[in-house]
Amino acid sequence: MPIKNKKSNSKEKIDIRPPKGKLGILLPGIGGAVSTTFIAGVEAIKNGLGRPIGSLTQMGTIRLGKRTEKRSPLIKDFIPLANPEDLVFAGWDIFPENCYEAALKAGVLEKNLLDELRNVLQKTKPMPAVFDRTYVKNLRGEYRKAGKTKMDLGEQLIDDIQNFKKENRLDRLVMVWCGSTEVYIKRSQVHSSLKSFEEGLRDNHPDIAPSMIYAYAAIQCGVPYANGAPNLSVDVPALIKLAQKKKVPIAGKDFKTGQTLMKTIIAPGLKARMIGLKGWFSTNILGNRDGEVLDDPYSFKTKEESKLSVLEYILQPELYPELYSDYHHKVRINYYPPRGDAKEAWDNIDIFGWLGYPMQIKINFLCRDSILAAPIVLDLALFLDLAGRAKLYGIQEWLSFYFKSPMHGEGLYPEHDLFIQLMKLKNTLRYLKGEELITHLGLDYYDLM
Ligand SMILES: NC(=O)c1ccc[n+]([C@@H]2O[C@H](COP(=O)([O-])OP(=O)(O)OC[C@H]3O[C@@H](n4cnc5c(N)ncnc54)[C@H](O)[C@@H]3O)[C@@H](O)[C@H]2O)c1
Repeated sequence: MPIKNKKSNSKEKIDIRPPKGKLGILLPGIGGAVSTTFIAGVEAIKNGLGRPIGSLTQMGTIRLGKRTEKRSPLIKDFIPLANPEDLVFAGWDIFPENCYEAALKAGVLEKNLLDELRNVLQKTKPMPAVFDRTYVKNLRGEYRKAGKTKMDLGEQLIDDIQNFKKENRLDRLVMVWCGSTEVYIKRSQVHSSLKSFEEGLRDNHPDIAPSMIYAYAAIQCGVPYANGAPNLSVDVPALIKLAQKKKVPIAGKDFKTGQTLMKTIIAPGLKARMIGLKGWFSTNILGNRDGEVLDDPYSFKTKEESKLSVLEYILQPELYPELYSDYHHKVRINYYPPRGDAKEAWDNIDIFGWLGYPMQIKINFLCRDSILAAPIVLDLALFLDLAGRAKLYGIQEWLSFYFKSPMHGEGLYPEHDLFIQLMKLKNTLRYLKGEELITHLGLDYYDLM
């Protein structure tokens, strides 16, 4: 929520509490490929064994004032962010392996690197999860909590969160869902208000998935929450209202990496030049556990919805019917174990130009999913912590930059264009620090000449 009574172009600074002490990062799905690549990556960076490539908070700069002023500090020098040295990790998984064993199994980072970090990674062990196979059919894991009701399970998570904070003498916490993609669930009556949601927790309502219980526990503890998967999780009215009531920042959904990242880079370019689209066919092969989970049609449906919505919003067919009202958009994900985390993606884009003449673009992206996702987890954790200290709460739309299906306020459409998202993010940082927002108008340079 924007801070009331402050004009968006005012030069008044927002009072941001400094990031003193340790920041705890809670990860549901801590034994997965993304979580372990993130944690091992941060430890590697702390030890000078690697660089935080892909992280805007660590490597990005921000221009301030006019181009002639030549002020472009690093974002982390401009705005008070927690230092990676001060991060402490914990989380939950349905498999009991410690972070070293889980990272080896995920097979993303090389064994040599993991061996150098072995002592520290072995210390991070998951807590038993809140898990139910109804919501992730292709996973079997017994390391989980028992409870009569979903409310009991939520209370156990709250205890875990409070104990972690106390035992590690943490100043603040954030939670980022890095758990598996759950089956497709639509918003329903039980999600409509906090009262019906809490009744649903006590009555074990089937429309309340584990990821919602984690989000509920986080918000109840005043912990900012981001959702890296496409399932609803915190994106239901009951939890959005709870976040507003408790003054907790939230964000989601579905980390924007790989093929969709490319889509949101290319589609705005085509639209900017008024190039028409006939069809966009995206397929990929991937062989990690995420691929195995998405092999179940119910989990795939959640992912498909998230991936498909992107083009519709960027291309705005209602404004450009001649160019974009009649295109085919297909998205396929194929589980192919030999590839592990090293995904290969193909896009065939049928476009048309001047007088309707057809053309094609082919993209073959050999990416590494978790290598692209890990810096996003770091940035989200640091920016959500910043939001908490700056008293921003509810949906943090300025973090849309990181998501395939950005959460947005009621009555607004989501912004998918990566470049608008980046401008929104940087302008939010300028706004927080009382710096002038950058509109790129630039006429005044010429008035002065
Ligand atoms: N890697 C990417 O580029 C990318 C991009 C967008 C979204 N995502 C999403 O991020 C999530 C993590 O991806 P990943 O590649 O690490 O997958 P992964 O399968 O390696 O890890 C997910 C982990 O979550 C655990 N888990 C499942 N349900 C849980 C629960 N209820 N509580 C606690 N732990 C639970 C699993 O046991 C597993 O260890 C997935 O939902 C994926 O769709 C990943």
